[in-house]
Amino acid sequence: MFTTTLAKPSNPIPEDLFSGINDLKKELNAVILAHYYQDNDIQDIADYIGDSLGLSQQAAATNADVIVFAGVHFMAETAKILNPNKLVLLPDLNAGCSLADSCPPDKFAQFKAANPDHLVISYINCTAEIKALSDIICTSSNAVKIVSQIPKDKPIIFAPDRNLGRYVMEQTGREMLLWNGSCIVHETFSEKEIIRLKLENPDAEIIAHPECEPHLLKHAAYIGSTTALLKYSQISNSNKFIVATEPGIIHQMEKETPDKIFIPAPGMNKNCACNECPHMRLNTLEKLYLAMKNKTPEIILPENIRLAALKPMLKMLEMS
Ligand code: 13P
Ligand code: SF4
Repeated sequence: MFTTTLAKPSNPIPEDLFSGINDLKKELNAVILAHYYQDNDIQDIADYIGDSLGLSQQAAATNADVIVFAGVHFMAETAKILNPNKLVLLPDLNAGCSLADSCPPDKFAQFKAANPDHLVISYINCTAEIKALSDIICTSSNAVKIVSQIPKDKPIIFAPDRNLGRYVMEQTGREMLLWNGSCIVHETFSEKEIIRLKLENPDAEIIAHPECEPHLLKHAAYIGSTTALLKYSQISNSNKFIVATEPGIIHQMEKETPDKIFIPAPGMNKNCACNECPHMRLNTLEKLYLAMKNKTPEIILPENIRLAALKPMLKMLEMS
């Protein structure tokens, strides 16, 4: 009879992930930046939680040697554009973005070449290649402010989100040439269901992200970026909100004002969690731990693209 000694399976994941991650944070001199659309436990361990503008401002200012970006690929790429000498980690390299994917660089370069007199303003939710083809970057919190600063006679291309573009046109009274891109999460909300929820909760205010479609935005009492929605929920006299953006933000809303009620706006299909961003939710606490432990997956960018993308990013930070 033969006996075999099986190697004990090595379990690289500690039972207490929070202290494991905190130990690695000290060891690596790392900072964890997380978007509001991350799982609650990732938000709870992050050093900074914010919207795209806040996160890029933090990335631009950090003294850490390692940036762990709990968000999607274009956000980690943005951190790398601003920090070429730092190690930038993304827990799951497949965490992409449907909106960024809706704007392929070759097609966008043709669109730009067909309109050579236009200034190109791109929403930060795009790849580094698109940023490199842009004059100014904006986010949902500063898009109106940035477009308002452009001389009236200068024609503008706005890419890639057509819904944010339309919203900015409405707010500024400026015509812009829009790229026809959109976000799967913000286009999933059902107007019918939101109206039904509002009828059931007449005391609730509908608050919405400008990536939502215009027919939905017209029902909103307040429209803004994730940080703006969070702030509004704190200062509003209302005690109940129907929240039309990715429901990850509700974790912070409930933390800030525990006595208020937040109802996630439903998608077309009530049986799926379609209002959760499938890309953002690829990151988990385990993957975050492993990324720090193994110092991978790392964001790497060709230097020519990084330099070209840096210019419009710096312009945004200066104009914000
Ligand atoms: P903000 O972070 O600007 O609110 O945008 C939301 C979003 O869709 C991020 O992917
Ligand atoms: Fe992209 Fe939309 Fe997900 Fe934001 S919520 S990362 S825009 S797919």
